[in-house]
Amino acid sequence: IMHRKRYCVANWKMNFNGSDIQMFLSEWNNKSLNNPNIKTIFCPSFTELNITAKLLNQSNSKIGAQNVSNFSKGAFTGEVSASLIVDSGCSHVIIGHSERRQYFGETNQSVNRKTKSALNAGLIPIICVGEMLEDREAGKTEQVVKDHLVNSIAKLTEEQILNSVIAYEPVWAIGTGKTATPDQAQEVHALIRSVLSDTYSSANVADRIRIQYGGSVTPANAVALLSQPDVDGALVGGASLEAEPFADIVKAAQP
Ligand code: 13P
Repeated sequence: IMHRKRYCVANWKMNFNGSDIQMFLSEWNNKSLNNPNIKTIFCPSFTELNITAKLLNQSNSKIGAQNVSNFSKGAFTGEVSASLIVDSGCSHVIIGHSERRQYFGETNQSVNRKTKSALNAGLIPIICVGEMLEDREAGKTEQVVKDHLVNSIAKLTEEQILNSVIAYEPVWAIGTGKTATPDQAQEVHALIRSVLSDTYSSANVADRIRIQYGGSVTPANAVALLSQPDVDGALVGGASLEAEPFADIVKAAQP
């Protein structure tokens, strides 16, 4: 059986300042959840990447940014390049989160360009896909998720896709307390794996890629979601803002 190392990602969105992070991590570090089978990744705002890196110094948790420029360097005021993100201590970056698609004009094309920039700098992109409520109600979930996925990963080599993570986040489940059922999540994760196996000739790709689920993950639903065969981890918003519930989600992810 293929064993994919699980990821638990805390997407702190635009919430934590330096002292919030210090408080969170001092509580977190006391829990010593250093399970080698689970990768924990904290994603603060750009301005807090450095302090997060300092505070996580001794731990094997990783750090991710929440966005990245598609440009690599130069006169692009206000942008943050992939190599600057690496320089701030990151190994990962979330790309194409639905909030960026909804409020900041992110498209599959920009997601694709940003993904390539991230990979070129050695960052692991966490590429987000997912349908809106009206898509699901119109029976268009499969179509929308396929469209997001195929166009967001367009022209990635096999080596590049193997260095990427996919996150399925149904928009109607984000911050609503309305989580996808384990069956609904599994159905879409299996679809994502089958699109990957159609796109890449090597069976290796579809088997090895990690697919995260995100959308109102809590300690109460994490075990059921993560026990689905194609769900390899969680991308957590609200429940990652306190150490206790996030630790419980990481415990639920233990194989
Ligand atoms: P919630 O866990 O708050 O629903 O947010 C999910 C999310 O958007 C993670 O990226």
